[in-house]
Amino acid sequence: MSPRPVILIFGASGQVGVELQRSFTNAGEVSALVRKSADFSRPEDLRSIISTVKPSIILNAAAYTAVDRAESEPELAMTINCDAPRVLGEEAVKLDALLVHYSTDYVFDGSKKSSWIEEDGTNPLNTYGRTKLAGERAVQDVGGKYLIFRTSWVYGPHGHNFLLTMLRLGHEHEQLKIVDDQFGAPTSSHAIADATRAIVDKALANGFESGVYHMTCGGETTWCRFAHEIFAEHHWQKETKVPQVIPISSNEYSTPAIRPANSVLCNEKLKSTFGVALPNWESALGKVMSTMMPRGPKGP
Ligand SMILES: NC(=O)c1ccc[n+]([C@@H]2O[C@H](COP(=O)([O-])OP(=O)(O)OC[C@H]3O[C@@H](n4cnc5c(N)ncnc54)[C@H](OP(=O)(O)O)[C@@H]3O)[C@@H](O)[C@H]2O)c1
Repeated sequence: MSPRPVILIFGASGQVGVELQRSFTNAGEVSALVRKSADFSRPEDLRSIISTVKPSIILNAAAYTAVDRAESEPELAMTINCDAPRVLGEEAVKLDALLVHYSTDYVFDGSKKSSWIEEDGTNPLNTYGRTKLAGERAVQDVGGKYLIFRTSWVYGPHGHNFLLTMLRLGHEHEQLKIVDDQFGAPTSSHAIADATRAIVDKALANGFESGVYHMTCGGETTWCRFAHEIFAEHHWQKETKVPQVIPISSNEYSTPAIRPANSVLCNEKLKSTFGVALPNWESALGKVMSTMMPRGPKGP
């Protein structure tokens, strides 16, 4: 009988990190570390942690994800999003371990009219995207056994995300102005973690090719239509007031970091390689919201 895999999760307090702990709970011996015990702003410190735990699988959900703040902290963002993953890659190679790393749709500039495939040219518009792309390249340069999953518009029942922001603002305001000219695919942390588990199981059983794979929920929408769907799902709580959602353009909502106009990713490679597809974004949203709120009758 082969030994139970030793699985090391970084970023255990994050949206994806929390869900990875759920999805991998029975997959082996799991160690899940938060920032206090594995600080990615000090990448060299990660070496002794990894050589002590001796994982056969490293799941890296830690990242500098504050897209706007990254514009004023580019060096810290680069250390966490590029230098630290490079160290993870180097230590994984020493142990012949599999490194699973996550990247972003923001490696693209948004200029394509259709969905982006893995081979499309990258051209990040903001610091966060540049540091994440550098992280992808660092992991690829090191080589070994790695899977880089580019995902997008991540949300879930905890952490900082659009869903929770909308639910909070929806209680505070009667009208919300939401950007309606950026296209992407909202992707639940739950779906990312379950897909990661399914893929890791298949990869270890059947072998795999290291590389970059797109991993988002199916379909596409805008932030404004995402907000509409959130409040539609929310509506079955009779007592909940639903705010009016007003579409605006990106020009009317200025942020320190520029976002791509179209960052919809094509998931065909993930499906054809591993036979795994995430649910459509609307059904994933419904599933997440049903776990967050008590079921009640539909409102009038
Ligand atoms: N969020 C999105 O919309 C989105 C979109 C595309 C791709 N992604 C990618 O998906 C992956 C998971 O993202 P997520 O949404 O789960 O992010 P998240 O909720 O912001 O969680 C980030 C995690 O990284 C940890 N972290 C931050 N700085 C750290 C440091 N210096 N040392 C150690 N840990 C540190 C955080 O710890 P604390 O709790 O202590 O802060 C947290 O556990 C990331 O690679 C991200 O780039 C995310």
